[in-house]
Amino acid sequence: GKVAVMFGGNSAERDVSLKSGTAVLQALLKAGVDAHAFDPAEQPLSVLLDEQFDRVLIMLHGRGGEDGSMQGALQLLGLPYTGSGVLGSALAMDKIRSKQLWQSLDLPTSAFVVAEKSTFEAAGCEDIIARLGGTVMVKPAREGSSIGMAKVTSADALRQAVTAAFEYDNEVLLERYIQGREFTVSLLQGQALPSIRMQTPRDFYDYEAKYQASSTEYFCPGGLSDELELRLADLAQQAFKAVGGSGWGRVDFMQDTEGNFYLLEANTVPGMTQKSLVPMAARQAGIDFGQLSLSILQTSKE
Ligand code: DAL
Ligand code: MG
Repeated sequence: GKVAVMFGGNSAERDVSLKSGTAVLQALLKAGVDAHAFDPAEQPLSVLLDEQFDRVLIMLHGRGGEDGSMQGALQLLGLPYTGSGVLGSALAMDKIRSKQLWQSLDLPTSAFVVAEKSTFEAAGCEDIIARLGGTVMVKPAREGSSIGMAKVTSADALRQAVTAAFEYDNEVLLERYIQGREFTVSLLQGQALPSIRMQTPRDFYDYEAKYQASSTEYFCPGGLSDELELRLADLAQQAFKAVGGSGWGRVDFMQDTEGNFYLLEANTVPGMTQKSLVPMAARQAGIDFGQLSLSILQTSKE
C-alpha cells in the first residue's frame, strides 16, 4: 500500500528529522515501496486520508512526533504507524518518568532531582550539587539530541543551566553524572543489535559530537565481554519494555569505572542519519540501511 514517511515537524529536532526521514524515504523508494514524504509542519493530517495513505512510517524526533501525540492522532484516524504506541512514546520521551519507572523496577539508573519551573529556587543549587556527587547533567525532561543539556560542577553553573533548560521544558532533570564510558543498544523487532560505544573528546556527547564533530569515535561492537554484552542487551530490552516501547528503538547507557551500567534514556524514534547509531549497529549485524528501513516499516500495526 501507500506509505507516508513522516518527517520534519516542529520540534527542536526538526533538522535531525529531515535528515533521518530523507534517508529512509530514499531507501524505501529504492526498495520499490510506494513511499511519499509527509511533513506535519506543512500539511494537515487530513491529507493522509484524502490521499488514501495505508500506513505511516514515523521519522519525527522530539515532541509532537515521538511523544505519543502523533501516535494518538494517527490511531484516531485509523492509520497504522511504525514503532511505539501512545503510552510508550509518551513515557520514553519523558526522561524523568522513565527514570522513576526504572527505579521502581530496580533497573539501574543514576540518582536524580527534578527541577520544576514554578518552584525552582536557586538557593537549593549548592545542596543539589552535593547530593548528586559534584557533577550534574542538566536535561530538559522531554527533548532529544542533547538539546538544552549541560554538564555542571558548580551551583552557579547549575542555576544557569537549569534556567536555560526551562526554555525547553517546564520540568528539568538533574542527574548524577556517571564518570565512565557511554554505550547504546539498538532494538529492532524484539532483537538487540550489537552495542556501540561512543567516545568524544568534548565535555559530553552533545549535539555537536552527535552530528557535526569529526572527533567523535564509535566502536561497534562496543568491546564488551560476551557476558557484559548480553547483560547490556538484556537491560536494554527490559528498560524498553518497562516504558511500553515496541517495534524498534534505542536505549542509552553509561558504564562507570567499576563496570556497572546505568540507564540514561530510551528513544522510540532514534536517529537514522548518516551519523546515527541504529544504522551503524544494524550494519554490524549484517542489515543494510535499506533492509533496516523495510524492517522499521514492518513494525507498523493496526
Ligand atoms: N533523538 C535522536 C534523534 C536520537 O535519539 O538519535
Ligand atoms: Mg533521546
